[in-house]
Amino acid sequence: MYKYLNIKHSPKLSGSIEISGAKNAALPIIASTILAKNDVTLTNVPEVADVKTLLKLFDLLGADYSFKNNILNINTNSIHSTTAVYEIVKTMRASILVLGPLLSRFKECKVSLPGGCAIGARPVDLHLKALDAMGADIKIEGGYIKASGKLRGADIIFDKITVTGTENIIMAATLAKGKTRIINAAKEPEVVQLCEILKDAGVEIEGISSNEIIINGTDGELLNFKKIEIIPDRIEAGTYLAAGAITNSKITLKKVIPTHLESVLVKFSEMGYKIEAKKDEITIFPANSIKPTNISTTEYPGFPTDMQAQFMAIATQANGVSIIEERLFENRFMHVPELNRLGADIKIQGKIATVYGAKELIGADVMATDLRASSALVLAALIAKGETNVHRIYHLFRGYEKLTQKFKALGANVELRDEPLP
Ligand code: UD1
Repeated sequence: MYKYLNIKHSPKLSGSIEISGAKNAALPIIASTILAKNDVTLTNVPEVADVKTLLKLFDLLGADYSFKNNILNINTNSIHSTTAVYEIVKTMRASILVLGPLLSRFKECKVSLPGGCAIGARPVDLHLKALDAMGADIKIEGGYIKASGKLRGADIIFDKITVTGTENIIMAATLAKGKTRIINAAKEPEVVQLCEILKDAGVEIEGISSNEIIINGTDGELLNFKKIEIIPDRIEAGTYLAAGAITNSKITLKKVIPTHLESVLVKFSEMGYKIEAKKDEITIFPANSIKPTNISTTEYPGFPTDMQAQFMAIATQANGVSIIEERLFENRFMHVPELNRLGADIKIQGKIATVYGAKELIGADVMATDLRASSALVLAALIAKGETNVHRIYHLFRGYEKLTQKFKALGANVELRDEPLP
């Protein structure tokens, strides 16, 4: 059996939903428990496929855990293997996040090299160059990164800002001997939470949420983790706001951190929507007229690449032409041909997509290609006349918890269906 999403024309949404914990915060924080000497409890952990994949890897490493009702209890003292096998890494690139902590705790590890992926080549050269600068011996053999050696602090200057690269080096530096200075570090809220929980666990870290992070390593001494609550998922929140926007409806999100979404909220306002943000709540109100927009994706606090596809779906309904530039990933326009199958008029030239707005969309069968591209198809399907079937939806369940329930709670006509394989 194979599952797909059937979405019937749902021109108006209403009501409120709660946002889940951030997948991209949970993954590095789970990886960081390799640095702990105690039982660690994480709450608000989203029950999404990527988290389950990482836990499968932890099973193979030998860690002990239980995961129920969004609470993860984990103890990594029973780890007996330091190999992250191809079968896991190929399904989730973020498995590379175990490289830094495994090497730093066990002084050796073997992690499958992630291959290319749907949205681009996505190399891990910057992770490896930084570990090399910290004294690791790195070899690539049989598709695996083989890393060994005792890590020492170093000055790391990232050529490009990399989120998981920064996280890997923060974790590697935590148990290293001496000071590591990470220059041109990523400062996404997920990187900030990783730093904060490590600091709470006893590591000296300065420059949290800046481009220069300084970590004074413990020289092998394991950490005593406190209880951790995963921050809300800003991309999930942005996606549901986009559902409100494309249907020009009023909806409210609860359990969010509005400041994590500033660049996204500004774009909604520029497009004519009214946004009301309270401490942990955001409401979007309909626009009188949806204005076209210009977007260029960039690192935090700029406009996130993970929201690009969703805004492209909204732009198909704007009164005018929008220009969307994807600066981070070279192949992140896979949703464009699928949106065009629904009746959108989008042209791509290199990194730039030109979206001609005010198009009537009509339901069709479409194919999900990656996590965020898939969510753009769901958004477009809400306003498409008739029915849309979104296939290969396992991409969506990698990162959206209770997706069908949440859309239904907002009044969307969304149903998960089974279909026998042809
Ligand atoms: C993370 C997020 C992903 C988001 C992306 C950009 C997680 C689990 N995933 O992915 O959702 O879309 O940040 O915000 O947090 N690069 C190199 N060499 C490297 C590393 C990166 O050239 O060694 C390049 C990449 O190909 C890309 C750019 O740097 O062009 C940024 O990628 P990076 O920030 O590393 O993305 P991820 O951490 O993989």
